[in-house]
Amino acid sequence: MEIRIERTATPKAKPADETKLGFGHIFTDHMFIMNYDTGLGWHDARIVPFGDITLSPAAMCLHYGQEIFEGLKAYRTADGSVQLFRPEENFKRMNVSCDRMVIPPINEADVLEALKTLVKLEEDWVPHTEGASLYIRPYIFATDPYVGVRPADHYMFVIILSPSGAYYSTGLNPVKIYVEKKYVRAVRGGTGFAKTAANYAISLKGQQEAHDQDYEQVLWLDGVEQKYVEEVGSMNIFFVIDGEVITPELTGSVLPGITRKSVLQLCESWGMKVSERRISIDEVAKAYDEGKLDEVFGTGTAAVISPVGHLKWGDKVMEIGGNKIGPISQRIYDTMTGIQWGTIEDPFGWIVKID
Ligand code: COI
Repeated sequence: MEIRIERTATPKAKPADETKLGFGHIFTDHMFIMNYDTGLGWHDARIVPFGDITLSPAAMCLHYGQEIFEGLKAYRTADGSVQLFRPEENFKRMNVSCDRMVIPPINEADVLEALKTLVKLEEDWVPHTEGASLYIRPYIFATDPYVGVRPADHYMFVIILSPSGAYYSTGLNPVKIYVEKKYVRAVRGGTGFAKTAANYAISLKGQQEAHDQDYEQVLWLDGVEQKYVEEVGSMNIFFVIDGEVITPELTGSVLPGITRKSVLQLCESWGMKVSERRISIDEVAKAYDEGKLDEVFGTGTAAVISPVGHLKWGDKVMEIGGNKIGPISQRIYDTMTGIQWGTIEDPFGWIVKID
């Protein structure tokens, strides 16, 4: 794929203090864009100065939410080089999301090449500070000016980059999670497995009510019986019960997280007992009452490994591991971040170098 490059004439100052980046507020100098038109396919691949996009007020994405996205990161290693973590998995999943949302597929090899070219151009924006990285957001949205409901004929694929720190302001300190009893995130046959804007929009009401009670995130239960644990929305969820590492199986309403998949591989390689299975919130509460709920943690690109210190389910508040990160979560965090930042050798072939 040929990529036209238009460099900015007015580069921005890089963040002065990389310990205060926050998450997703700052954007680099350039972005990648390509267009899709029925009959022409994906075309006009270009890297241009980061800036506003002009859209018709009738653009279909604004009305019916035909949009999908991905999230991954570029990491700075000790020798100054830059690397990505399993980017092929993101573009593979992007095509799964495209299919669900009736968006034309992308050529995975081409967009990976585009991403590498963009990250190479923006190399100096990859943070040098421990714990900080360059968050990468590829996304596709429908642009046809039309207010009828049908799949669009015109789309834009965009990649923007954001130097970022921890997703949760608590960093590696445990998060407080509210088990949602009223709302649901996804249903069987719905879009739960796709990375599409609607799944996040639908989560906001529950998240707002959880915030009002001083909880950071919501743990979603299944959309039918509200009995089985699904995911947190910004991350997948893991429980360590009596030495067994358990995460809900992928039933179609849970996002197939790339960090989730990597953690499963990692724990298996350590010879741990690992299960992807249905787990009810009753089972979690029972394990807690019996003193067997050793650890709870979330996994995600943005969230990395986030220990959970409190789970509130109705009137029951479970404090996990004395509200401290547990040894398994810590070991997984150290190994995952070690591989990502290149301080630990990658035995799995997960790392893709930018050169
Ligand atoms: C990610 O982890 O990259 C995501 O896309 C989750 C999002 C809520 C930040």
